[in-house]
Amino acid sequence: MQNSIKSIRNLGLSLKRMFDLLQNDIMKTKTIFTTICLAATMSLYAQRTATISLSPEGTQIIPKEIYGQFAEHLGSCIYGGLWVGENSSIPNIQGYRTDVFNALKELKVPVLRWPGGCFADEYHWMDGIGPRENRPKMVNNNWGGTIEDNSFGTHEFLNLCEMLGAEPYISGNVGSGTVEELAKWVEYMTSEGDSPMARLRRQNGRDHAWKVKYLGVGNESWGCGGNMRPEFYSDLYRRYSTYCRNYDGNVLFKVASGASDYDYNWTDVLMQQVGTRMNGLSLHYYTVAGWTGSKGKATSFTDDDYFFTLGKCREIEDVIKRHCQIMDQYDRQKRVALMLDEWGTWWDVEEGTNPGHLFQQNTLRDAFVASLTFDIFHKYTDRLKMANIAQIVNVLQSMILTKGDQMVLTPTYYVFKMYNVHQDATYLPLQIISDQVQVRGNRTVPMLSATASQKDGKTHISLSNVDPNQKQTVTISLGGLKANRVSGEMLTSAHLTDYNDFGKAEVVHPQAFNGAKIQNGVLTVELPAKSIVTLELQ
Ligand code: AHR
Repeated sequence: MQNSIKSIRNLGLSLKRMFDLLQNDIMKTKTIFTTICLAATMSLYAQRTATISLSPEGTQIIPKEIYGQFAEHLGSCIYGGLWVGENSSIPNIQGYRTDVFNALKELKVPVLRWPGGCFADEYHWMDGIGPRENRPKMVNNNWGGTIEDNSFGTHEFLNLCEMLGAEPYISGNVGSGTVEELAKWVEYMTSEGDSPMARLRRQNGRDHAWKVKYLGVGNESWGCGGNMRPEFYSDLYRRYSTYCRNYDGNVLFKVASGASDYDYNWTDVLMQQVGTRMNGLSLHYYTVAGWTGSKGKATSFTDDDYFFTLGKCREIEDVIKRHCQIMDQYDRQKRVALMLDEWGTWWDVEEGTNPGHLFQQNTLRDAFVASLTFDIFHKYTDRLKMANIAQIVNVLQSMILTKGDQMVLTPTYYVFKMYNVHQDATYLPLQIISDQVQVRGNRTVPMLSATASQKDGKTHISLSNVDPNQKQTVTISLGGLKANRVSGEMLTSAHLTDYNDFGKAEVVHPQAFNGAKIQNGVLTVELPAKSIVTLELQ
């Protein structure tokens, strides 16, 4: 007791000394040093604990498609982000930016959704094939009225997927396109035979059909995709999907346009009216403060804002559960998959950028949204078979940002990279006991989030200490799991608001983690404040 009083008193004295120094208007570098000392001193005296019990055996595979991406013709996602064209001075591989391509290759992108989003329901695929100089232009009405020259079309997209080893997910136009148009697109992409569309494809330089598995039949049909009622859309889905044929061994997985976050009625009607005619039903959920007014700045926020964001992000669990419960009522055997084909943070655009281009920076806060969301996704993969973060480059919660010939990898990129060990691994359930805080929005946020999986004889455990100030000791009982070696990687930074910026040294990036040890079947992990760690046990 006396010791603790002494420690608190010492802490008080050091704080006072530091504030005195600050007031003395010392050099800026010294101020930074002092602030770091202050944070370090405080963390010496404040520490949380948490416990986890791991079940060493699991049955559920985490589908790699949970780690899917989304690329829309929006702002500089496609043009300048993924694609610069063969004649660009920016280094490229057949028109795709070399730096971005290589970074994505490392990420192991399992599936890529394209061309929208809202853009998809105004996209006419025939404008995007044939010699580029002959392709008609259009106005991108959804996203800032930008002129779209259609130089990136079906061939450019499907070839990119092949090069990345990613499954393509085509989002078809139901809002303003015809049944014939969508049916012919499927034929163009997937027919091997001597069909009219296969012949047209060959004329355009591609002999063999591509393999296209995922087909979205409309997007946000309740909103930008046609402002429909679920009953009407259900019939349209039935009609459009009828004519999307399976050609020459290519089997389509057809996805109906699903609900926006809390719209449970949409899911109910679709399940009742369409049922197993669809292979998947989509769902969109954004971590956003609200749809009207300011959504908040991406890079400047308080701890209160940070916790509000985590609360909102974690609410995705209740939303998934309720949609799953409704689906269960109609489909006990889980033949219809839930496809969360848009998710992520949505902030105000960066100052000076086109408000219709949704270009936002990405901090350690976004990294936590990614890690906490994956921890939740892993629990529901009996029904949840795909998720696509919005979006891959330069839009919303991106993996990558570009500016001219420069590129930065975001903190979210690194979470995807650290978590890709969980792709197609066996999910190991965890029981977690940790401190919790009540946050604005009447939500609760546990201070620790975690997930585990096993593949090829290795066990991976990902842990997020969301506390901005306090470190956390986590004791994990391994339930008989045979492991005696542990190594790890950690993502953290001095401030939650830190981000990687153009022309500057990378601030937020993974580093080796040595704070874990195994003894007598128990793994003890010392997590620094605001850190995300992935451990490998063997
Ligand atoms: O991801 C940006 C937009 O958000 C998509 O185009 C749309 O589907 C959603 O409203």
